[in-house]
Amino acid sequence: MIMKLTIQQQSFVNNLLQWNDEANNRQMPWKGEKDPYKIWLSEIILQQTRVDQGLGYYNRFIAAFSNIQQLANASETTVFKLWEGLGYYTRCKNLIATAKYIANELNGKFPNKYEEILQLKGVGPYTAAAVGSFAFNLPYAVVDGNVFRVLARYFGIATAIDSNEGKLFFTLLANKLLDKKQPGIHNQALMDFGAVICKPQLPHCNSCVLKAKCKAHAESRISQLPVKEKRIIKKTRWFYYLVIEYEGRQYVRLRGPKDIWENLYEFVLIENKKELPLEKFKEIEIVKALFGKTSYKITQISPLYKQHLTHQIIYGQFINIDTSKPFAVNGYKALSQIEISTLPFPKFITAYLKDKNVSLNLF
Ligand code: ADE
Repeated sequence: MIMKLTIQQQSFVNNLLQWNDEANNRQMPWKGEKDPYKIWLSEIILQQTRVDQGLGYYNRFIAAFSNIQQLANASETTVFKLWEGLGYYTRCKNLIATAKYIANELNGKFPNKYEEILQLKGVGPYTAAAVGSFAFNLPYAVVDGNVFRVLARYFGIATAIDSNEGKLFFTLLANKLLDKKQPGIHNQALMDFGAVICKPQLPHCNSCVLKAKCKAHAESRISQLPVKEKRIIKKTRWFYYLVIEYEGRQYVRLRGPKDIWENLYEFVLIENKKELPLEKFKEIEIVKALFGKTSYKITQISPLYKQHLTHQIIYGQFINIDTSKPFAVNGYKALSQIEISTLPFPKFITAYLKDKNVSLNLF
């Protein structure tokens, strides 16, 4: 059913598309791209990542794998290494699964129907609309943070964007507004407008082509819109990494499922709910249990590291240890520095490895 747009809605679409034609000079390598593989890859990268951070990753992925077959054939460690530092690693796991599925089950042909795209692992309504509209001109509106913000402000809507009611309302509105003749161009224009003009902080209202009919602007409610109802309460965890060395090799393991950093590697981990008294390291019960009678020497203790994740804050330190005997704890294996350098690690650990190399280079 085609619903007629109100004057305010029609004015929104006209001004947005005119701005896009005349003043939008945002450039990104996937813009105007028609290859669904490249569009899909860019959208998976951009799901929880800012464009400036995602750009380098996108370029490196395309340089390494120019089509989905190449990505499907790569080793998982190679793909995770390329993803290293980007966070939300489930995206990478799903990326690999979807590449293999399309390459092997669909003969390398990317699905071109919305429902089929939506079935792919790691693809939700937002990504299906983006891939569908950019690659195949399918008439589905993207509804991401930019779109929520622009619509909430322009139409003065205070329904929470993280409520079911809000999600439905904004999705219906965005689809009503969508220019069905050029959905890809319309969707990209709206996202660009949100990123360049109607920014979360300090939006460029002075140069905004939508200002005349913008409700939030008229009512001085720019900073109050959009509304979110849930505040995330973060859990704090303490990670003490023992960088145990025996005959030039260090002990690492692959992190398992059901926790952060699945499929990434780590050193020997002691996790605690609160800070540990490192000055009495050898008396800590978990440490005693870990080493038993094996003698060892602490060679260095790092400064405190901290990383914010969406639902957690990770604090921790790295403790360098030399042992007199091989360290035999299940799950960990001793690897050379060269082997370690090919493995993907969480940012928390790569930050430490980078600092360590910097300080080593100084001497
Ligand atoms: N965020 C997600 N997809 C995007 C795109 N195609 N352009 C800009 N930002 C985006």
